[in-house]
Amino acid sequence: MVLGVLGSGSGSNMQAIIDAIADGTLDARIGLVLSDNPDAFILERAKKHGIETGVIDCGGFKTKFPEEVQAETALRLKQAGVELVCLAGFLRLVKRPLLDAFPNRILNIHPALLPAYPGLESWKQALDAGEKEAGCTVHFVDDGMDTGPIILQESVPILSDDTAEVLHARIQVIEHRLYPAAIRKVGREIEESR
Ligand code: GRF
Repeated sequence: MVLGVLGSGSGSNMQAIIDAIADGTLDARIGLVLSDNPDAFILERAKKHGIETGVIDCGGFKTKFPEEVQAETALRLKQAGVELVCLAGFLRLVKRPLLDAFPNRILNIHPALLPAYPGLESWKQALDAGEKEAGCTVHFVDDGMDTGPIILQESVPILSDDTAEVLHARIQVIEHRLYPAAIRKVGREIEESR
């Protein structure tokens, strides 16, 4: 299975996917990594592993993902043979036409127990709300923000002396296991439906 990864930041989740492929627990390869931030570390990580990379140029828009840019992104992913798109810390909302190009084939990882706390810095929201637990969710992407059918979800406790940073780090440990597991699960379902 050929994966495409879209990310805006550090790319630790993409690294976890690379590691799972390398240790033989995920039968896939990453065909293309794209970022809307030319300086994102995710691009460095990918290059280090010899993975093709590219920049998504949103023409100066800070958060918007213009339709024509989504169409071009879909084309680049298709040309790289991508079958499943993994959003890994990608900070723009994916809509049509990218969604239409990959129906039920775009996944996202979110650091909260969805449907609770969609949006940015959700671990902070959970902490501020006095929750006893937080977690992470891998889900199919639809046209909402952090909505779409859940594939896998796992919780972590929130401890009384947690800071936002400590809690986020604890969530990320789980993320790095959960994302490859979710890709494996979707991959099996794709195989079975062939
Ligand atoms: C993760 O916490 C993920 O849940 C969220 O963005 C963060 C990306 O981190 N969507 P990284 O770039 O994979 O390190």
